[in-house]
Amino acid sequence: MSLLQAIKWSEGRLQILDQLLLPHVTKYIEIGSVQDGYDAIKNMQVRGAPAIAIVGCLSLVVEIQHKSYADKKALLHDIKEKLEYLVTARPTAVNIKLAADELITLTTKVSNLETSVSDMKERIITRIVSMLEKDLADNMAIGNHGASEIMRTHPKESQLRIITHCNTGSLATSGYGTALGVIRSLHNSNRLEQVYCTETRPYNQGARLTAYELVHDNIPSTLICDDMVASLMKQKNISAVVVGADRVARNGDTANKIGTYQIAVLAKYHKVPFYIAAPFTTIDFSITSGDDIKIEERPQSELTHINGIRIAADGINCWNPAFDITPAELITGIITEKKVYKPSELTNLRAKE
Ligand code: MRU
Repeated sequence: MSLLQAIKWSEGRLQILDQLLLPHVTKYIEIGSVQDGYDAIKNMQVRGAPAIAIVGCLSLVVEIQHKSYADKKALLHDIKEKLEYLVTARPTAVNIKLAADELITLTTKVSNLETSVSDMKERIITRIVSMLEKDLADNMAIGNHGASEIMRTHPKESQLRIITHCNTGSLATSGYGTALGVIRSLHNSNRLEQVYCTETRPYNQGARLTAYELVHDNIPSTLICDDMVASLMKQKNISAVVVGADRVARNGDTANKIGTYQIAVLAKYHKVPFYIAAPFTTIDFSITSGDDIKIEERPQSELTHINGIRIAADGINCWNPAFDITPAELITGIITEKKVYKPSELTNLRAKE
């Protein structure tokens, strides 16, 4: 089976799978600068919180690797300026902001050491490139923890039926995925009967990207429209919902793809466990609740047009928030690479736990 890879990094060269063209066309595009990285993130040729952070930071590597700097101060200034710019491409996902803050802290620290400019550059590049491997390892651990939790809490069901939303798989990460990683691990444990993926309007991450990944991996799967979730829960004895996250507040409130909140409400009504799967770093300990999360609003054309063809009545006004906040009280557990947390446990943790 060919490897599904959203991000290709080899010998200083960065290519991304153009997700605007999927599922029909598989085409990698070259990211040759920070501006390319910013544009690809902004127009969603690459998307998903971890992939946004990795591509943004690698685009910085592409730009600085062959550039010469007069001194360490100039390098620090360039790195800081470019990272601050990249963070503005998409504001809701915490991953790129966190990565940028950490890199700026590291760069500042290294600039004060007895190192040459090229040593300093090398250390930053090494740190950024290591993000790819760390993300993959975290995702495998998330997959294992999540699958164990769901299998443990469903001892009587030999085969499980899972709902997921948006795309949280190899296309949204460096590989394997978060919520889709949990589903992959359930499948690998022979406990998955069926995964139901929502279409995820307006950008159709479910129909275009998650469905593509599931078919690619031969995972038993069914596509539904976003408005079929209640009927599905009523009729199909769903075992659990597993979705990803763009930012989790200290009280457990979670920002994820628009539509997540309504699925959580429906899960509560139908007594279906509702899980968030995300790297520990998605928990933003600097904010107390979901009210502090900035929700990105995207162009109206994403609602009115599909592939450039207008589907909505001319003159209609649209509201297009890209994410919503699911209150902590609707969340059964937050699956991370460390363990599965109850939302109420987060308040007692710290970022470096
Ligand atoms: O707008 P997108 O496609 O970037 O939104 C993606 C999501 O909401 C994902 O669930 C989230 O980023 C986690 S991806 C592992």
